[in-house]
Amino acid sequence: MMAFRKWQHSIHLSFPQLMRSGSQTQIRSVSPRCCIVPVHRMSFTTASGPKCKGTQPELTSKKHAKLKRGNFARLSGKHVDHFQSLLGSASQVLTEDLDGYNTDWMNIMRVSKILRYCNDQKLAVVPQGGNTGLVGGSVPVFDEIILSLQLMDKVISIDQMAGVMVCQAGCILEKLDEQLADYNLMMPLDLGSKGSCHIGGNVSTNAGGIRLLRYGSLHGSVLGVEAVKADGEIIDCLSSLRKDNTGYDVKQLFIGSEGTLGVVTAVSILCPQRPKNVSLALLACSTFDDVLSSLKEARNQLQEILSAFEVFDNDSMMSNQTNLKLMNPLKEHNFYIVVETSGSNQSHDEEKLNAFLETVMGSEIINDGIITTEPSKIRILWGLREKITEGLLHDGYCYKYDVSLPLAHYYRLVEDMRVRLGDRATRVVGYGHVGDGNLHLNVTAPAYSAELHSLIEPFIYEYVAKLRGSISAEHGLGFIKSKYIHHSKSPQAVVLMKQLKKLMDPNGILNPYKTLPHTD
Ligand code: FAD
Ligand code: MLT
Ligand code: ZN
Repeated sequence: MMAFRKWQHSIHLSFPQLMRSGSQTQIRSVSPRCCIVPVHRMSFTTASGPKCKGTQPELTSKKHAKLKRGNFARLSGKHVDHFQSLLGSASQVLTEDLDGYNTDWMNIMRVSKILRYCNDQKLAVVPQGGNTGLVGGSVPVFDEIILSLQLMDKVISIDQMAGVMVCQAGCILEKLDEQLADYNLMMPLDLGSKGSCHIGGNVSTNAGGIRLLRYGSLHGSVLGVEAVKADGEIIDCLSSLRKDNTGYDVKQLFIGSEGTLGVVTAVSILCPQRPKNVSLALLACSTFDDVLSSLKEARNQLQEILSAFEVFDNDSMMSNQTNLKLMNPLKEHNFYIVVETSGSNQSHDEEKLNAFLETVMGSEIINDGIITTEPSKIRILWGLREKITEGLLHDGYCYKYDVSLPLAHYYRLVEDMRVRLGDRATRVVGYGHVGDGNLHLNVTAPAYSAELHSLIEPFIYEYVAKLRGSISAEHGLGFIKSKYIHHSKSPQAVVLMKQLKKLMDPNGILNPYKTLPHTD
Protein backbone atom coordinates (compact mmCIF):
# COMPACT_ATOMS: atom_id res chain seq x y z
CA MET A 1 0.00 0.00 0.00
CA MET A 2 1.22 3.40 -0.97
CA ALA A 3 1.81 6.03 1.68
CA PHE A 4 -0.39 9.03 1.34
CA ARG A 5 1.54 12.24 1.06
CA LYS A 6 0.42 15.14 3.14
CA TRP A 7 1.01 18.40 1.37
CA GLN A 8 3.21 20.02 3.98
CA HIS A 9 3.35 23.73 4.50
CA SER A 10 7.08 23.54 3.90
CA ILE A 11 6.89 22.01 0.45
CA HIS A 12 8.01 24.50 -2.11
CA LEU A 13 5.48 24.97 -4.84
CA SER A 14 6.43 25.98 -8.30
CA PHE A 15 2.85 26.70 -9.29
CA PRO A 16 2.34 30.08 -10.78
CA GLN A 17 0.55 32.38 -8.39
CA LEU A 18 -2.99 31.17 -8.42
CA MET A 19 -5.48 33.89 -8.93
CA ARG A 20 -8.71 33.23 -7.14
CA SER A 21 -10.36 31.18 -9.77
CA GLY A 22 -13.32 33.47 -9.78
CA SER A 23 -11.30 36.58 -10.31
CA GLN A 24 -9.51 35.11 -13.25
CA THR A 25 -10.27 36.58 -16.61
CA GLN A 26 -13.84 36.59 -17.65
CA ILE A 27 -13.24 34.32 -20.56
CA ARG A 28 -15.60 35.89 -23.01
CA SER A 29 -15.59 39.56 -22.74
CA VAL A 30 -18.25 40.92 -25.01
CA SER A 31 -18.54 44.63 -24.95
CA PRO A 32 -22.12 45.81 -25.09
CA ARG A 33 -23.49 46.72 -28.47
CA CYS A 34 -26.64 48.29 -27.27
CA CYS A 35 -27.57 48.41 -23.72
CA ILE A 36 -29.59 50.02 -21.11
CA VAL A 37 -26.94 49.42 -18.64
CA PRO A 38 -26.46 51.18 -15.41
CA VAL A 39 -27.73 54.29 -17.05
CA HIS A 40 -24.34 55.84 -17.45
CA ARG A 41 -23.69 53.26 -20.08
CA MET A 42 -26.58 53.38 -22.38
CA SER A 43 -25.67 52.96 -25.97
CA PHE A 44 -27.65 51.92 -28.96
CA THR A 45 -27.52 50.39 -32.34
CA THR A 46 -29.74 51.70 -35.09
CA ALA A 47 -30.74 50.08 -38.35
CA SER A 48 -27.86 51.94 -39.92
CA GLY A 49 -25.39 50.23 -37.64
CA PRO A 50 -23.84 50.50 -34.27
CA LYS A 51 -23.14 53.89 -32.84
CA CYS A 52 -20.80 52.68 -30.15
CA LYS A 53 -17.15 53.54 -30.59
CA GLY A 54 -14.47 50.89 -30.53
CA THR A 55 -14.37 47.29 -31.67
CA GLN A 56 -17.75 45.67 -31.76
CA PRO A 57 -18.10 41.95 -31.25
CA GLU A 58 -19.77 40.12 -34.09
CA LEU A 59 -23.50 39.76 -33.62
CA THR A 60 -24.64 36.19 -32.98
CA SER A 61 -27.04 36.46 -35.93
CA LYS A 62 -24.13 36.95 -38.34
CA LYS A 63 -23.23 33.31 -37.86
CA HIS A 64 -26.84 32.20 -38.40
CA ALA A 65 -27.79 33.37 -41.84
CA LYS A 66 -31.17 31.62 -41.79
CA LEU A 67 -32.28 33.11 -38.49
CA LYS A 68 -35.08 35.63 -38.87
CA ARG A 69 -35.10 38.73 -36.70
CA GLY A 70 -38.26 38.94 -34.60
CA ASN A 71 -40.82 41.57 -35.34
CA PHE A 72 -39.30 44.04 -32.87
CA ALA A 73 -38.94 47.77 -33.21
CA ARG A 74 -35.48 49.18 -33.85
CA LEU A 75 -33.99 51.41 -31.22
CA SER A 76 -33.95 54.95 -32.50
CA GLY A 77 -33.23 58.47 -31.30
CA LYS A 78 -36.86 58.76 -30.16
CA HIS A 79 -36.37 55.84 -27.75
CA VAL A 80 -33.04 57.14 -26.55
CA ASP A 81 -34.73 60.50 -25.86
CA HIS A 82 -37.33 58.66 -23.85
CA PHE A 83 -34.72 56.81 -21.81
CA GLN A 84 -32.91 60.07 -21.24
CA SER A 85 -36.06 61.69 -19.90
CA LEU A 86 -36.84 58.61 -17.83
CA LEU A 87 -33.39 58.58 -16.30
CA GLY A 88 -33.30 62.27 -15.69
CA SER A 89 -30.38 63.52 -17.70
CA ALA A 90 -28.89 63.19 -21.14
CA SER A 91 -25.49 62.41 -19.67
CA GLN A 92 -26.88 59.19 -18.28
CA VAL A 93 -27.36 57.78 -21.74
CA LEU A 94 -24.03 56.85 -23.18
CA THR A 95 -23.70 56.45 -26.89
CA GLU A 96 -19.96 56.32 -27.26
CA ASP A 97 -17.61 55.54 -24.40
CA LEU A 98 -18.82 52.38 -22.71
CA ASP A 99 -16.13 52.22 -20.07
CA GLY A 100 -15.55 54.06 -16.87
CA TYR A 101 -18.99 54.06 -15.45
CA ASN A 102 -19.97 53.33 -11.90
CA THR A 103 -22.88 55.03 -10.35
CA ASP A 104 -25.37 53.64 -7.94
CA TRP A 105 -28.59 54.22 -9.73
CA MET A 106 -30.57 51.16 -10.51
CA ASN A 107 -33.64 50.23 -8.57
CA ILE A 108 -36.58 48.06 -9.24
CA MET A 109 -38.85 50.97 -10.18
CA ARG A 110 -36.48 51.93 -12.93
CA VAL A 111 -36.25 48.36 -14.20
CA SER A 112 -40.02 48.31 -14.19
CA LYS A 113 -40.31 51.57 -16.12
CA ILE A 114 -37.70 50.52 -18.66
CA LEU A 115 -39.42 47.20 -19.30
CA ARG A 116 -42.87 48.78 -19.49
CA TYR A 117 -41.61 51.16 -22.12
CA CYS A 118 -39.77 48.43 -24.05
CA ASN A 119 -42.90 46.30 -23.98
CA ASP A 120 -45.10 49.14 -25.23
CA GLN A 121 -42.60 49.93 -27.97
CA LYS A 122 -41.89 46.26 -28.74
CA LEU A 123 -38.20 46.68 -28.09
CA ALA A 124 -36.44 43.39 -27.37
CA VAL A 125 -34.30 43.13 -24.22
CA VAL A 126 -31.49 40.83 -23.02
CA PRO A 127 -31.08 40.80 -19.24
CA GLN A 128 -27.41 40.49 -18.40
CA GLY A 129 -25.54 39.61 -15.23
CA GLY A 130 -21.81 38.92 -15.24
CA ASN A 131 -21.92 37.67 -18.84
CA THR A 132 -20.16 34.43 -17.93
CA GLY A 133 -22.88 32.19 -19.37
CA LEU A 134 -21.68 29.47 -21.71
CA VAL A 135 -24.64 29.05 -24.05
CA GLY A 136 -24.99 32.45 -25.70
CA GLY A 137 -27.91 33.46 -23.48
CA SER A 138 -26.63 36.77 -22.16
CA VAL A 139 -25.74 38.55 -25.41
CA PRO A 140 -27.96 39.97 -28.14
CA VAL A 141 -28.61 37.93 -31.26
CA PHE A 142 -29.65 40.88 -33.40
CA ASP A 143 -29.86 44.36 -31.94
CA GLU A 144 -31.64 43.71 -28.65
CA ILE A 145 -31.09 46.10 -25.78
CA ILE A 146 -28.86 44.79 -23.00
CA LEU A 147 -30.30 45.44 -19.57
CA SER A 148 -27.38 45.04 -17.19
CA LEU A 149 -28.03 44.52 -13.49
CA GLN A 150 -24.40 45.26 -12.70
CA LEU A 151 -25.01 48.21 -10.41
CA MET A 152 -27.84 46.65 -8.45
CA ASP A 153 -25.25 45.22 -6.13
CA LYS A 154 -26.43 45.88 -2.59
CA VAL A 155 -26.80 43.34 0.17
CA ILE A 156 -30.18 44.10 1.73
CA SER A 157 -29.97 41.96 4.86
CA ILE A 158 -28.19 39.05 6.46
CA ASP A 159 -30.01 37.14 9.17
CA GLN A 160 -27.34 35.13 10.92
CA MET A 161 -29.76 33.16 13.07
CA ALA A 162 -31.94 32.04 10.17
CA GLY A 163 -28.99 31.82 7.77
CA VAL A 164 -30.77 33.92 5.16
CA MET A 165 -29.32 36.64 2.99
CA VAL A 166 -31.36 39.03 0.87
CA CYS A 167 -29.52 40.91 -1.85
CA GLN A 168 -29.92 42.63 -5.18
CA ALA A 169 -29.44 40.65 -8.37
CA GLY A 170 -26.22 42.32 -9.49
CA CYS A 171 -24.14 41.18 -6.50
CA ILE A 172 -21.08 39.18 -7.51
CA LEU A 173 -21.12 35.66 -6.13
CA GLU A 174 -17.62 35.74 -4.67
CA LYS A 175 -18.20 39.08 -2.94
CA LEU A 176 -21.37 37.75 -1.35
CA ASP A 177 -19.47 34.77 -0.02
CA GLU A 178 -16.80 37.06 1.41
CA GLN A 179 -19.42 39.16 3.18
CA LEU A 180 -21.11 36.09 4.58
CA ALA A 181 -17.82 34.96 6.14
CA ASP A 182 -18.25 37.70 8.77
CA TYR A 183 -21.45 35.94 9.86
CA ASN A 184 -19.97 32.41 9.74
CA LEU A 185 -22.19 31.73 6.77
CA MET A 186 -21.41 30.87 3.15
CA MET A 187 -23.05 30.85 -0.26
CA PRO A 188 -24.58 27.45 -1.05
CA LEU A 189 -23.05 27.50 -4.53
CA ASP A 190 -19.55 27.88 -5.88
CA LEU A 191 -18.52 28.19 -9.54
CA GLY A 192 -15.24 28.79 -11.35
CA SER A 193 -16.75 32.07 -12.58
CA LYS A 194 -17.53 33.31 -9.06
CA GLY A 195 -15.41 36.44 -9.43
CA SER A 196 -17.60 37.73 -12.27
CA CYS A 197 -21.02 36.05 -12.23
CA HIS A 198 -23.97 37.66 -10.46
CA ILE A 199 -26.40 36.03 -8.10
CA GLY A 200 -29.20 37.17 -10.46
CA GLY A 201 -27.44 35.35 -13.31
CA ASN A 202 -26.93 32.31 -11.10
CA VAL A 203 -30.60 32.18 -10.22
CA SER A 204 -31.66 32.81 -13.81
CA THR A 205 -29.50 29.91 -15.01
CA ASN A 206 -30.12 27.72 -11.95
CA ALA A 207 -26.35 27.39 -11.77
CA GLY A 208 -24.95 24.17 -10.33
CA GLY A 209 -21.22 24.06 -9.65
CA ILE A 210 -19.04 22.17 -7.22
CA ARG A 211 -21.19 22.43 -4.05
CA LEU A 212 -24.50 21.18 -5.46
CA LEU A 213 -23.52 17.73 -4.22
CA ARG A 214 -23.68 19.01 -0.64
CA TYR A 215 -26.19 21.88 -0.62
CA GLY A 216 -28.54 20.97 -3.45
CA SER A 217 -29.83 23.10 -6.31
CA LEU A 218 -30.98 26.72 -6.23
CA HIS A 219 -34.55 25.46 -6.61
CA GLY A 220 -34.12 24.45 -2.96
CA SER A 221 -31.89 27.15 -1.51
CA VAL A 222 -33.50 30.21 -3.09
CA LEU A 223 -36.26 31.17 -0.67
CA GLY A 224 -37.52 34.22 -2.50
CA VAL A 225 -37.24 36.16 -5.74
CA GLU A 226 -38.24 39.67 -6.70
CA ALA A 227 -38.64 40.00 -10.45
CA VAL A 228 -40.09 42.29 -13.08
CA LYS A 229 -42.29 40.91 -15.82
CA ALA A 230 -41.97 42.02 -19.44
CA ASP A 231 -44.82 44.50 -18.99
CA GLY A 232 -43.07 46.14 -16.05
CA GLU A 233 -45.20 44.50 -13.37
CA ILE A 234 -43.23 43.79 -10.22
CA ILE A 235 -43.63 40.30 -8.79
CA ASP A 236 -42.68 40.42 -5.13
CA CYS A 237 -41.99 36.87 -3.98
CA LEU A 238 -39.04 37.93 -1.86
CA SER A 239 -39.98 35.71 1.05
CA SER A 240 -37.35 34.59 3.53
CA LEU A 241 -39.45 31.76 4.88
CA ARG A 242 -38.32 28.18 4.68
CA LYS A 243 -41.88 26.94 4.71
CA ASP A 244 -44.64 28.58 2.73
CA ASN A 245 -47.19 26.42 0.92
CA THR A 246 -49.56 29.17 -0.11
CA GLY A 247 -50.49 28.47 -3.70
CA TYR A 248 -48.12 27.88 -6.60
CA ASP A 249 -44.45 28.49 -5.95
CA VAL A 250 -44.19 31.35 -8.45
CA LYS A 251 -40.55 32.15 -7.73
CA GLN A 252 -39.52 28.82 -9.27
CA LEU A 253 -40.55 30.18 -12.68
CA PHE A 254 -37.68 32.65 -12.58
CA ILE A 255 -35.11 30.08 -11.44
CA GLY A 256 -33.45 28.65 -14.53
CA SER A 257 -35.64 30.43 -17.10
CA GLU A 258 -32.64 32.39 -18.40
CA GLY A 259 -34.25 35.82 -18.41
CA THR A 260 -37.06 34.76 -20.73
CA LEU A 261 -39.89 35.15 -18.19
CA GLY A 262 -38.75 38.14 -16.15
CA VAL A 263 -35.84 40.16 -14.89
CA VAL A 264 -34.68 39.05 -11.45
CA THR A 265 -33.93 42.10 -9.32
CA ALA A 266 -33.45 40.61 -5.84
CA VAL A 267 -32.98 37.22 -4.24
CA SER A 268 -33.40 35.73 -0.80
CA ILE A 269 -31.14 32.75 -0.27
CA LEU A 270 -30.54 30.15 2.39
CA CYS A 271 -26.87 30.19 3.39
CA PRO A 272 -25.29 27.24 5.17
CA GLN A 273 -23.02 27.56 8.18
CA ARG A 274 -19.43 28.19 7.12
CA PRO A 275 -17.33 25.10 7.90
CA LYS A 276 -14.61 25.41 10.52
CA ASN A 277 -12.23 23.12 8.70
CA VAL A 278 -11.85 22.12 5.09
CA SER A 279 -9.58 19.43 3.63
CA LEU A 280 -8.88 18.77 0.01
CA ALA A 281 -7.47 15.65 -1.59
CA LEU A 282 -6.31 15.33 -5.17
CA LEU A 283 -6.37 11.63 -6.03
CA ALA A 284 -5.35 9.73 -9.11
CA CYS A 285 -6.53 6.43 -10.56
CA SER A 286 -6.37 4.34 -13.70
CA THR A 287 -9.93 3.63 -14.76
CA PHE A 288 -13.29 5.33 -14.64
CA ASP A 289 -14.60 2.32 -12.72
CA ASP A 290 -12.07 3.28 -10.03
CA VAL A 291 -13.52 6.82 -10.03
CA LEU A 292 -16.99 5.36 -9.43
CA SER A 293 -15.73 3.01 -6.70
CA SER A 294 -14.11 6.01 -4.97
CA LEU A 295 -17.35 7.99 -5.23
CA LYS A 296 -19.27 5.12 -3.67
CA GLU A 297 -16.75 4.86 -0.88
CA ALA A 298 -16.69 8.65 -0.34
CA ARG A 299 -20.48 8.75 -0.06
CA ASN A 300 -20.47 5.83 2.30
CA GLN A 301 -17.63 6.91 4.58
CA LEU A 302 -17.59 10.70 4.41
CA GLN A 303 -21.35 11.24 4.32
CA GLU A 304 -22.23 14.64 5.86
CA ILE A 305 -18.71 16.10 5.55
CA LEU A 306 -18.37 15.40 1.82
CA SER A 307 -18.64 18.84 0.15
CA ALA A 308 -17.34 18.16 -3.39
CA PHE A 309 -16.41 15.20 -5.55
CA GLU A 310 -15.13 16.21 -8.97
CA VAL A 311 -13.34 14.36 -11.74
CA PHE A 312 -11.12 15.31 -14.67
CA ASP A 313 -9.27 13.15 -17.14
CA ASN A 314 -5.64 13.17 -18.16
CA ASP A 315 -6.39 15.12 -21.34
CA SER A 316 -7.77 17.92 -19.17
CA MET A 317 -4.64 17.78 -17.03
CA MET A 318 -2.46 17.89 -20.15
CA SER A 319 -4.31 21.01 -21.32
CA ASN A 320 -3.69 22.64 -17.92
CA GLN A 321 -0.02 21.81 -18.18
CA THR A 322 0.50 22.76 -21.82
CA ASN A 323 -1.82 25.74 -22.10
CA LEU A 324 -1.69 27.25 -18.62
CA LYS A 325 1.67 25.93 -17.41
CA LEU A 326 0.06 24.53 -14.28
CA MET A 327 1.99 21.82 -12.52
CA ASN A 328 0.63 18.34 -11.89
CA PRO A 329 1.69 17.52 -8.32
CA LEU A 330 1.09 13.81 -8.96
CA LYS A 331 2.46 11.33 -11.49
CA GLU A 332 0.54 11.06 -14.75
CA HIS A 333 -2.66 9.00 -14.45
CA ASN A 334 -5.80 8.51 -16.53
CA PHE A 335 -8.14 10.19 -14.03
CA TYR A 336 -7.87 12.73 -11.24
CA ILE A 337 -10.42 13.21 -8.49
CA VAL A 338 -10.89 16.22 -6.22
CA VAL A 339 -12.48 15.25 -2.91
CA GLU A 340 -13.32 18.04 -0.49
CA THR A 341 -14.55 17.63 3.06
CA SER A 342 -15.93 20.43 5.23
CA GLY A 343 -17.04 20.16 8.80
CA SER A 344 -17.00 21.52 12.30
CA ASN A 345 -14.87 19.06 14.23
CA GLN A 346 -11.32 18.72 12.97
CA SER A 347 -10.39 15.42 14.61
CA HIS A 348 -13.68 13.82 13.66
CA ASP A 349 -13.39 15.04 10.06
CA GLU A 350 -9.75 13.98 9.73
CA GLU A 351 -10.52 10.57 11.16
CA LYS A 352 -13.22 10.05 8.56
CA LEU A 353 -11.11 11.32 5.69
CA ASN A 354 -8.15 9.15 6.72
CA ALA A 355 -10.36 6.09 6.95
CA PHE A 356 -11.70 6.81 3.47
CA LEU A 357 -8.19 7.28 2.06
CA GLU A 358 -6.96 4.09 3.71
CA THR A 359 -9.82 2.14 2.15
CA VAL A 360 -9.41 3.45 -1.39
CA MET A 361 -5.64 3.16 -1.33
CA GLY A 362 -5.61 -0.18 0.47
CA SER A 363 -7.88 -1.66 -2.16
CA GLU A 364 -5.75 -0.01 -4.85
CA ILE A 365 -8.67 1.92 -6.27
CA ILE A 366 -6.53 5.04 -5.88
CA ASN A 367 -2.90 4.94 -6.99
CA ASP A 368 -1.58 8.29 -5.87
CA GLY A 369 -2.74 11.35 -3.99
CA ILE A 370 -2.03 14.51 -2.14
CA ILE A 371 -3.95 16.15 0.70
CA THR A 372 -3.93 19.61 2.21
CA THR A 373 -5.81 21.75 4.70
CA GLU A 374 -3.96 24.96 3.94
CA PRO A 375 -6.22 27.50 2.19
CA SER A 376 -3.62 28.71 -0.33
CA LYS A 377 -2.82 25.15 -1.39
CA ILE A 378 -6.47 24.22 -1.46
CA ARG A 379 -6.95 27.02 -3.97
CA ILE A 380 -4.05 25.76 -6.08
CA LEU A 381 -5.45 22.25 -6.20
CA TRP A 382 -8.94 23.57 -6.98
CA GLY A 383 -7.32 25.59 -9.76
CA LEU A 384 -6.39 22.37 -11.54
CA ARG A 385 -10.07 21.57 -11.84
CA GLU A 386 -11.57 25.05 -12.18
CA LYS A 387 -9.15 26.38 -14.79
CA ILE A 388 -9.78 23.61 -17.30
CA THR A 389 -12.38 25.80 -19.02
CA GLU A 390 -9.86 28.58 -19.52
CA GLY A 391 -7.02 26.27 -20.56
CA LEU A 392 -8.98 24.58 -23.32
CA LEU A 393 -9.64 27.90 -25.05
CA HIS A 394 -5.94 28.15 -25.79
CA ASP A 395 -6.27 25.30 -28.28
CA GLY A 396 -8.16 27.65 -30.61
CA TYR A 397 -11.83 26.69 -30.69
CA CYS A 398 -13.78 24.78 -28.05
CA TYR A 399 -17.06 22.92 -28.60
CA LYS A 400 -18.64 22.77 -25.14
CA TYR A 401 -21.17 20.22 -23.88
CA ASP A 402 -22.68 19.88 -20.46
CA VAL A 403 -24.74 16.74 -20.02
CA SER A 404 -26.28 14.61 -17.29
CA LEU A 405 -25.86 10.88 -17.76
CA PRO A 406 -26.38 7.72 -15.72
CA LEU A 407 -23.00 7.15 -14.07
CA ALA A 408 -22.43 3.82 -15.82
CA HIS A 409 -22.35 5.70 -19.15
CA TYR A 410 -20.70 8.89 -17.92
CA TYR A 411 -17.22 8.49 -19.37
CA ARG A 412 -18.19 6.10 -22.19
CA LEU A 413 -19.51 9.11 -24.08
CA VAL A 414 -16.06 10.72 -24.01
CA GLU A 415 -14.42 7.50 -25.24
CA ASP A 416 -17.00 7.04 -28.00
CA MET A 417 -16.59 10.67 -29.07
CA ARG A 418 -12.80 10.23 -29.29
CA VAL A 419 -13.22 7.27 -31.58
CA ARG A 420 -15.79 9.13 -33.69
CA LEU A 421 -13.69 12.26 -34.17
CA GLY A 422 -10.27 10.63 -34.51
CA ASP A 423 -7.53 13.10 -35.28
CA ARG A 424 -9.93 15.83 -36.43
CA ALA A 425 -9.99 17.06 -32.83
CA THR A 426 -7.01 18.41 -30.92
CA ARG A 427 -8.48 17.12 -27.66
CA VAL A 428 -11.64 15.40 -26.49
CA VAL A 429 -11.77 15.88 -22.74
CA GLY A 430 -14.12 14.90 -19.96
CA TYR A 431 -14.41 16.59 -16.58
CA GLY A 432 -17.17 17.62 -14.26
CA HIS A 433 -19.37 17.16 -11.28
CA VAL A 434 -19.36 13.38 -11.30
CA GLY A 435 -21.02 13.26 -7.90
CA ASP A 436 -24.09 14.81 -9.58
CA GLY A 437 -23.85 12.75 -12.81
CA ASN A 438 -22.88 15.94 -14.69
CA LEU A 439 -20.23 15.57 -17.40
CA HIS A 440 -18.54 18.42 -19.25
CA LEU A 441 -17.41 17.02 -22.58
CA ASN A 442 -15.30 19.49 -24.52
CA VAL A 443 -13.78 19.10 -27.96
CA THR A 444 -11.03 21.43 -29.09
CA ALA A 445 -9.58 22.20 -32.50
CA PRO A 446 -7.36 24.93 -33.93
CA ALA A 447 -10.39 26.70 -35.44
CA TYR A 448 -14.13 26.28 -35.91
CA SER A 449 -14.98 23.67 -38.51
CA ALA A 450 -18.52 22.98 -39.76
CA GLU A 451 -17.45 19.41 -40.58
CA LEU A 452 -16.29 18.70 -37.04
CA HIS A 453 -19.37 20.39 -35.62
CA SER A 454 -21.64 18.16 -37.72
CA LEU A 455 -19.82 15.07 -36.45
CA ILE A 456 -20.46 16.09 -32.85
CA GLU A 457 -24.05 17.33 -33.19
CA PRO A 458 -26.70 15.99 -33.26
CA PHE A 459 -24.82 12.75 -32.42
CA ILE A 460 -24.15 13.85 -28.83
CA TYR A 461 -27.75 14.94 -28.20
CA GLU A 462 -29.16 11.71 -29.62
CA TYR A 463 -26.68 9.71 -27.55
CA VAL A 464 -27.73 11.50 -24.36
CA ALA A 465 -31.44 11.33 -25.18
CA LYS A 466 -31.26 7.55 -25.72
CA LEU A 467 -29.96 7.22 -22.17
CA ARG A 468 -32.64 9.59 -20.86
CA GLY A 469 -29.95 12.05 -19.84
CA SER A 470 -30.08 15.83 -20.05
CA ILE A 471 -28.50 17.77 -22.93
CA SER A 472 -27.88 20.67 -20.54
CA ALA A 473 -27.25 19.73 -16.95
CA GLU A 474 -26.41 23.18 -15.55
CA HIS A 475 -25.57 25.79 -18.22
CA GLY A 476 -29.08 26.17 -19.66
CA LEU A 477 -30.07 26.26 -23.31
CA GLY A 478 -29.49 29.94 -24.14
CA PHE A 479 -29.25 30.57 -27.85
CA ILE A 480 -27.00 27.76 -28.95
CA LYS A 481 -28.88 24.82 -27.47
CA SER A 482 -32.50 25.94 -27.55
CA LYS A 483 -33.30 24.06 -30.74
CA TYR A 484 -32.30 20.78 -29.12
CA ILE A 485 -34.71 21.04 -26.19
CA HIS A 486 -36.87 18.18 -27.53
CA HIS A 487 -34.00 15.76 -26.80
CA SER A 488 -34.60 16.29 -23.10
CA LYS A 489 -38.21 17.47 -22.79
CA SER A 490 -41.45 15.96 -24.10
CA PRO A 491 -43.49 17.83 -26.77
CA GLN A 492 -46.19 18.44 -24.15
CA ALA A 493 -43.71 19.98 -21.74
CA VAL A 494 -42.36 22.27 -24.48
CA VAL A 495 -45.92 23.37 -25.38
CA LEU A 496 -46.59 24.19 -21.74
CA MET A 497 -43.36 26.20 -21.61
CA LYS A 498 -44.42 28.15 -24.69
CA GLN A 499 -47.80 28.84 -23.10
CA LEU A 500 -46.12 30.13 -19.97
CA LYS A 501 -43.87 32.36 -22.05
CA LYS A 502 -46.89 33.74 -23.90
CA LEU A 503 -48.69 34.42 -20.63
CA MET A 504 -45.79 36.19 -18.97
CA ASP A 505 -44.32 37.93 -21.99
CA PRO A 506 -47.01 38.18 -24.71
CA ASN A 507 -44.85 40.32 -27.01
CA GLY A 508 -41.86 38.04 -26.57
CA ILE A 509 -39.53 40.94 -25.80
CA LEU A 510 -37.57 39.17 -23.06
CA ASN A 511 -34.48 37.41 -24.32
CA PRO A 512 -35.90 36.36 -27.70
CA TYR A 513 -34.35 33.39 -29.58
CA LYS A 514 -33.24 31.90 -26.24
CA THR A 515 -34.27 28.78 -24.28
CA LEU A 516 -37.31 27.86 -26.37
CA PRO A 517 -36.91 26.86 -30.02
CA HIS A 518 -37.35 29.91 -32.19
CA THR A 519 -40.02 29.18 -34.77
CA ASP A 520 -41.08 32.40 -36.47
P1 FAD B 1 -25.04 35.95 -17.55
O1 FAD B 1 -24.03 35.15 -18.27
O2 FAD B 1 -24.97 37.40 -17.66
O3 FAD B 1 -26.51 35.49 -18.02
C1 FAD B 1 -26.85 34.12 -18.08
C2 FAD B 1 -28.35 34.02 -18.43
O4 FAD B 1 -29.13 34.56 -17.37
C3 FAD B 1 -28.74 34.83 -19.67
O5 FAD B 1 -29.76 34.14 -20.33
C4 FAD B 1 -29.24 36.15 -19.10
O6 FAD B 1 -30.18 36.77 -19.95
C5 FAD B 1 -29.89 35.70 -17.80
N1 FAD B 1 -29.79 36.68 -16.72
C6 FAD B 1 -28.67 37.17 -16.12
N2 FAD B 1 -29.02 37.99 -15.12
C7 FAD B 1 -30.36 38.04 -15.07
C8 FAD B 1 -31.32 38.70 -14.25
N3 FAD B 1 -30.96 39.48 -13.25
N4 FAD B 1 -32.64 38.49 -14.50
C9 FAD B 1 -33.03 37.68 -15.51
N5 FAD B 1 -32.18 37.04 -16.32
C10 FAD B 1 -30.87 37.21 -16.10
N6 FAD B 1 -22.21 27.29 -14.56
C11 FAD B 1 -22.62 26.32 -13.73
O7 FAD B 1 -23.82 26.07 -13.61
N7 FAD B 1 -21.73 25.59 -12.99
C12 FAD B 1 -20.40 25.83 -13.05
O8 FAD B 1 -19.62 25.14 -12.39
C13 FAD B 1 -19.94 26.87 -13.90
N8 FAD B 1 -18.63 27.16 -13.96
C14 FAD B 1 -18.20 28.12 -14.84
C15 FAD B 1 -16.84 28.39 -14.91
C16 FAD B 1 -16.37 29.35 -15.79
C17 FAD B 1 -14.90 29.63 -15.85
C18 FAD B 1 -17.29 30.06 -16.62
C19 FAD B 1 -16.82 31.12 -17.55
C20 FAD B 1 -18.64 29.80 -16.54
C21 FAD B 1 -19.12 28.83 -15.66
N9 FAD B 1 -20.47 28.55 -15.53
C22 FAD B 1 -20.90 27.57 -14.67
C23 FAD B 1 -21.45 29.26 -16.36
C24 FAD B 1 -21.93 30.62 -15.77
O9 FAD B 1 -20.94 31.18 -14.94
C25 FAD B 1 -23.24 30.45 -15.00
O10 FAD B 1 -24.26 30.09 -15.88
C26 FAD B 1 -23.66 31.70 -14.20
O11 FAD B 1 -24.74 31.37 -13.38
C27 FAD B 1 -24.04 32.88 -15.11
O12 FAD B 1 -24.15 34.04 -14.32
P2 FAD B 1 -23.95 35.49 -14.94
O13 FAD B 1 -24.27 36.49 -13.91
O14 FAD B 1 -22.64 35.60 -15.60
O15 FAD B 1 -25.11 35.51 -16.03
C1 MLT C 1 -17.18 23.80 -14.84
O1 MLT C 1 -17.72 22.97 -14.11
O2 MLT C 1 -15.94 23.92 -14.87
C2 MLT C 1 -18.04 24.73 -15.60
O3 MLT C 1 -19.33 24.30 -15.72
C3 MLT C 1 -17.45 25.32 -16.83
C4 MLT C 1 -17.32 24.37 -17.99
O4 MLT C 1 -18.18 23.54 -18.23
O5 MLT C 1 -16.32 24.47 -18.72
ZN1 ZN D 1 -19.75 22.73 -14.31
